[in-house]
Amino acid sequence: MNQDELKQAAARAALEEIKGLPPGSVIGVGTGSTVNHFIDMLAASGLRIAGAASSSEASARRLAAHGIGLASLDDVEELPVYVDGADEIDHAFNMIKGGGAALTREKIVAAAARRFVCICDESKYVATLGRFPLPVEVIPMARVQVARHIARLTGGEPRWRESVVTDNNNHILDVHGLAIENPVELEAALNQIAGIVTNGLFARRGADVLLLATSNGVRRSVRA
Ligand code: A5P
Repeated sequence: MNQDELKQAAARAALEEIKGLPPGSVIGVGTGSTVNHFIDMLAASGLRIAGAASSSEASARRLAAHGIGLASLDDVEELPVYVDGADEIDHAFNMIKGGGAALTREKIVAAAARRFVCICDESKYVATLGRFPLPVEVIPMARVQVARHIARLTGGEPRWRESVVTDNNNHILDVHGLAIENPVELEAALNQIAGIVTNGLFARRGADVLLLATSNGVRRSVRA
């Protein structure tokens, strides 16, 4: 199986995962190529959901193109489930996200969800987070100052993702060269830096369920 087929397998497993939801549920939907498969399969499945709260303009457009209704977080108390991919996930289900620059809205929608279901292929499953550069969304006027601060704090090398403006009109710094031993601590420390909107560590609110597509099938595990 190639990587895209593994992503499809993970997406298919997520569809199974949400089949037990009461009809008329509103679900959270993430961003990225794995989630794109999930959206397409959801549309084809005939599963009756009331709508989806999307973590990006790109996913919102894809959902709408399939005729799936978009829901605002203003109108729902809690989402039963949020389905999203990850750039890396460790054995304690901490994640790096934001490779698609959607990290801020992903964190917001994830925070509204009772259960975070992470779907990814086995290449994303790591012992230590950090080989994938850590995305950080910054207010543009603070970008250089924040980059200096992050370099001092982490010893990593922040690089501006110049081609990207986020859905919130901000910039992205990708921090290279990290080996993140304590994701909860680093997530909190980065949140203290003025000018940072969000960092791509999902540790305080990690995944609850991991659907990991491997060449031997999809492995389902639940956070201990
Ligand atoms: C989007 O900002 C990211 O957090 C994605 O969830 C992550 O990059 C996974 O993307 P793929 O499913 O395309 O690998």
